[in-house]
Amino acid sequence: MSEHNKNTLDMYSNKGGAKKYIENDKKDPETEKWERLLNYVKRVLPKDKKVKIIEFGSGSGQLAVMLQEEGYDVTSSDAVDDFLEEQRRKGIIQIKKYDFLSDDFDNVFDSKADLIISWRNPHLDMDDMRKLFDVVYNGLNDDGLFIINFQNSEVHPEAEILPNGTKYNYKILEDKQTQEKRFFAYFSKADIEGFRKKLFDIVEYHNEGGKEQKNWHVLTLRKARNLSNGN
Ligand SMILES: C[S@@+](CC[C@H](N)C(=O)[O-])C[C@H]1O[C@@H](n2cnc3c(N)ncnc32)[C@H](O)[C@@H]1O
Repeated sequence: MSEHNKNTLDMYSNKGGAKKYIENDKKDPETEKWERLLNYVKRVLPKDKKVKIIEFGSGSGQLAVMLQEEGYDVTSSDAVDDFLEEQRRKGIIQIKKYDFLSDDFDNVFDSKADLIISWRNPHLDMDDMRKLFDVVYNGLNDDGLFIINFQNSEVHPEAEILPNGTKYNYKILEDKQTQEKRFFAYFSKADIEGFRKKLFDIVEYHNEGGKEQKNWHVLTLRKARNLSNGN
């Protein structure tokens, strides 16, 4: 885990960041965004079988709540206790404390998933992201899907660059305030190709968010059968 992800988790856990984030979520429930994401998930999921969904870094747990209400077998997770408590408060039935960069997936979850979701976790540098892709590959059943979004480096010309090539900055977002600055990483489509290739095929890709609808890269990926795929 990078020092940046450590800082993020420390800020959320020990410096009141998660509590503040949850407060903001209550003030601004972002209903339309969540409805859009729920519909996206339903669109990409196979209709003909019961699927097991695991969400990483669920935060306040809104997506998992909606999936549970729709009847899906969904497990939310997070590394931060305050977020897990909020997920419990919201009534999510299956919840795991899980740090996807440090904990062993197979020790924490009872079985592999048909869909893993990592939504709005921009606190990972290039090396953390590579690790996440390996963990998700291992955590999925054959043909399993991975939904992930990344902040788009194209709209962050102000970003600085880490020695490992990650574009980043530390800041407080106006609409998601925390008491301290958080680490945000920004990626290009070429960066994402680097994480994905060999491990996943692309099922769907689009950009969304912001005036020009390009703040985020959104992808649904399918676990590749053959590890040499995409070379
Ligand atoms: C910006 S919040 C987004 C939460 C939620 N997915 C959403 O869209 O509202 C990022 C979340 O990722 C979690 N997170 C960051 N690093 C993590 C890690 N290594 N393992 C597990 N969760 C992590 C944080 O605790 C936080 O809940």
